[in-house]
Amino acid sequence: MRDFDENNITAAVIDRFKNTPDPRLKQILNSLVRHLHDFVRDIEPTEAEWGQAIAFLTRTGQICTDKRQEFILLSDTLGVSMLVDAINHRFSKGATETTVMGPFYVQNPPEAAFGADISGGAKGEPLYIDGTILSEDGRPVANAIVDVWHSDSEGFYDVQLPELEEPTLRARFHSDAQGRYRFWTILPRYYPIPYDGTVGDMLKASERHPYRPAHVHFMIVADGYPTLVTHVFVDGDQYLDSDAVFAVKNSLIREFTREAPGVAPDGKRMDTPWRKLHMDFALSRATARQSAPAA
Ligand code: BEZ
Ligand code: FE
Repeated sequence: MRDFDENNITAAVIDRFKNTPDPRLKQILNSLVRHLHDFVRDIEPTEAEWGQAIAFLTRTGQICTDKRQEFILLSDTLGVSMLVDAINHRFSKGATETTVMGPFYVQNPPEAAFGADISGGAKGEPLYIDGTILSEDGRPVANAIVDVWHSDSEGFYDVQLPELEEPTLRARFHSDAQGRYRFWTILPRYYPIPYDGTVGDMLKASERHPYRPAHVHFMIVADGYPTLVTHVFVDGDQYLDSDAVFAVKNSLIREFTREAPGVAPDGKRMDTPWRKLHMDFALSRATARQSAPAA
């Protein structure tokens, strides 16, 4: 067939993929072509605009390194990461909700003992965190891997601070026989996602801010359960309603209570004010992907 025009080219391209042996790949390519062509028909770009779009994606790829993933950031800021997350974690109401992983997780974080202080001397308000890892039916989950990571009191992760020699404000704990975990750290602050690249250009051009509300990341891995990747957000943060990556869920917001000097739950004497967070996690029993709920 020849003589393609704006009305028949979509069907022709889809037809060209008709021999794709993998049915899932074929479905994805067909849908991609349909939606991409509809998008172009909708916006009717000038050739200069199309060139700009190609240049934007090219620069996005060029910014990527083993430490910086601008395409994931683009997916995050377009809400696609949270959409994929929602589709893949249709858990029951009893299970803790999920959110995005973000770029600051580091594989195999340092192991830390039950109750350890992971602040590594970082300045900030001392924060005591404890809770229990539970199955969604309420039974404690012993020996779960509990990875935690968060920003410092100025909004930086350790991987953004080249002067730091050791991993800081990140660690791997294991829940005890009763499913409990606890540790000391410092209160995290809100922070901007990296905005010196193409994603930053997009945010600036659309007058969007790059901030995420203060939070602590948790990833919980336990035999027989889908991995839980989530955050706990600090109640009262000014960015809870405008998170740059759309990851806030009401069920994940907690008060990080202000405590007066005195004795902490683990018996530690505190001479200065400190903060406390109690957070239990309920692991889903469902496999990670289930069919869409009825509308
Ligand atoms: C984070 O919370 O670490 C994060 C998530 C998405 C994009 C940037 C940062
Ligand atoms: Fe974060």
